[in-house]
Amino acid sequence: MKILFVGDIMGSAGRKAFLETACPMKERGEIDVLLVNGENSASGKGINKKFAEQFLKAGADVITLGDHAYDQREIMGYLNEQRLMIRPANFAPGCPGKGWVTVDTAHGPVTVINLIGRVFLNPSDCPFRCVDKILKQIPQQKHPIFVDMHAEATSEKMAMGWHLAGRVTAVAGTHTHIQTSDARILKDHTAYITDAGMTGSKDSIIGCEMDAILKRFMTGLPARFEPAEGNPSVEAFLVECGRDGKASSCQALRMPEHG
Ligand SMILES: [Fe+2]
Ligand SMILES: [Fe+2]
Repeated sequence: MKILFVGDIMGSAGRKAFLETACPMKERGEIDVLLVNGENSASGKGINKKFAEQFLKAGADVITLGDHAYDQREIMGYLNEQRLMIRPANFAPGCPGKGWVTVDTAHGPVTVINLIGRVFLNPSDCPFRCVDKILKQIPQQKHPIFVDMHAEATSEKMAMGWHLAGRVTAVAGTHTHIQTSDARILKDHTAYITDAGMTGSKDSIIGCEMDAILKRFMTGLPARFEPAEGNPSVEAFLVECGRDGKASSCQALRMPEHG
């Protein structure tokens, strides 16, 4: 089974790249399961119902989120009714939405878990203890389990990789919008990457227009950040695994490769 996990969709360039590059891969049968982090789909600030439904209709099996999960007010109610879009499981109890889901794909069940880190991010419950509790609730674990660990610190993401090594199919980091080159299999079982990257404009600073970010760095004055439009590309993590959930290979993808 081939699972493609697409890094944070950023604005209209990200939506275009996802819909025109990643989704057709599923239509052509090059991948079996399509997962995507959609936390920056709506002008960089969260996701709305329209875009979520567009992604699901185009082939996304599950949408994950992160610290921008609730940026769009309308999403609160939708997160409670749309089981195929999840937000970090270790948000405070009672927050809208759920943190993990098991979906029936054409290739059998796949569980997706979304977590958020605590280093350099707003306070949340412990992601390590949280994922342990979730794994105890999954009755039959011999199927693919994919974890999106949305975090700033590389150390915290790698810690989660080793915490779950041998217990889940894959741990992919998100949030920094910069793809890392450390894709590998941990303990002959678990595919890992510190960050899958960002899906959006390549000619940007982590997906935003360069001018505003540069002005902020050079003057310290407040600036309004807008998603950049040029040179859309997909950054993703491709995992191959058996139906038993054991990963056999994994790689970071950038499409187009040399944009
Ligand atoms: Fe984020
Ligand atoms: Fe993001």
